[in-house]
Amino acid sequence: LWILRLLLKKAVEITTESLADLTTADKVLVEKAQEATQNSYAPYSEFYVGSSVQLSNGEVVLGSNQENASFPSGLCAERVALFYCGQELEKHQVDAIAVFARSNKYKVPALLVPCAGCLQVMKDIEMRQNQRIRVLMWSGGEDVYIANGIEQFLPFHFSLDKQ
Ligand code: THU
Repeated sequence: LWILRLLLKKAVEITTESLADLTTADKVLVEKAQEATQNSYAPYSEFYVGSSVQLSNGEVVLGSNQENASFPSGLCAERVALFYCGQELEKHQVDAIAVFARSNKYKVPALLVPCAGCLQVMKDIEMRQNQRIRVLMWSGGEDVYIANGIEQFLPFHFSLDKQ
């Protein structure tokens, strides 16, 4: 049992980079996530989230949160972009996703972690492409938080495996 306990202990590794020190590609990616919030439809929460997905062919796909008068029918910015990319995943990989949020109503946390539903979708894509996804989280300040792989947030995940 103690071996199991030992194995269950996980260290989380999330690094911070100042915006100025990012590679050009990463800087463009977080800035595009910020730009994407212009297309958010969030009249109910007034919390505007943008995401940008870096594909292996160099393409960047944007997403923004889309709400609905029937609240649970809305969708997060990350999933809007990722499901769009999902149609292309036989051809390209998702290398990274950047997330940005702004709001005058709610505090935007410095460590802007995607919701667990979006993390599950990211994890699923990692499994499909057999490659990790880097997650860049920016809330407009000097620091950008970077995680290499969904495992940093979601050590366990749901999967459907045939018998
Ligand atoms: N939201 C996202 O777009 N991404 C997340 O990871 C968490 C939350 C959106 C959903 C909703 O439109 C608003 O933020 C407030 O929850």
